[in-house]
Amino acid sequence: MNVKKLNSDLQNYWNNMFKKLKPEKINLSEVKVKNELDEAFEFMGNNARSILDIGAGSGYALFTAKILGTKLSYGLGIDTSENAIRFAKKTCELSKIKGLNFEVGNESYLSKLENEAFDGIICSNVLDVIPEETSKQIIADIARLLKPNGFLLLKFNFYLTKDLIERIKMERIEKNVFTLNGILRGVNYTTEEWIRKFKKFKVVKQSEYDRIKSGPKDRVILLQKQG
Ligand SMILES: C[S@@+](CC[C@H](N)C(=O)[O-])C[C@H]1O[C@@H](n2cnc3c(N)ncnc32)[C@H](O)[C@@H]1O
Repeated sequence: MNVKKLNSDLQNYWNNMFKKLKPEKINLSEVKVKNELDEAFEFMGNNARSILDIGAGSGYALFTAKILGTKLSYGLGIDTSENAIRFAKKTCELSKIKGLNFEVGNESYLSKLENEAFDGIICSNVLDVIPEETSKQIIADIARLLKPNGFLLLKFNFYLTKDLIERIKMERIEKNVFTLNGILRGVNYTTEEWIRKFKKFKVVKQSEYDRIKSGPKDRVILLQKQG
């Protein structure tokens, strides 16, 4: 597996996806808890003063935590996609949301941040769509960057069954690693297997969320770093 190529293809893939998004003003009064994922973002916004969002994409996790929560005063979202970061920054500006910052960056950016700099970290749908060498680095930095007793919110795509893998014609390039049209789209572990990768964390809450109506459910996991 050529990790450098997989990451560079991923960067182009996601940057192209975010090119199509047009920033718009968020109507703050319309942001409400609609599902378990929003509930988890609200929890983060109510329980962390500073939140790092790794692979922030459009920034919607930080926006939701900030709008629904009462405690969040500083949020930093990082992503390899320049178009995603441009979208998130512009959305912030148009919506007059204060205290959030978005920067282009990857795992190397994280390594420059100070130990225990955040009391909340969000990593939504990132670890299961990047090479494992990269996610190992990010997981180590999550443990380093989070304060003791800080909260970590993880979201993973639905578990890929054999049937589903065949139906959507994913290609297996390594044990648990699947591509679609040459792009890495699934590192497939059960929820328990993902949780085991976070040593010294305890599970606060596990829930599921209907991203695709009547489809398989995405997984939302709230962990707390032990003091
Ligand atoms: C499936 S999207 C999830 C976006 C957002 N967190 C969400 O939940 O909607 C995966 C995101 O991870 C970003 N990404 C991929 N590899 C990354 C890396 N090594 N470091 C930071 N971000 C990365 C992509 O650009 C993309 O925005």
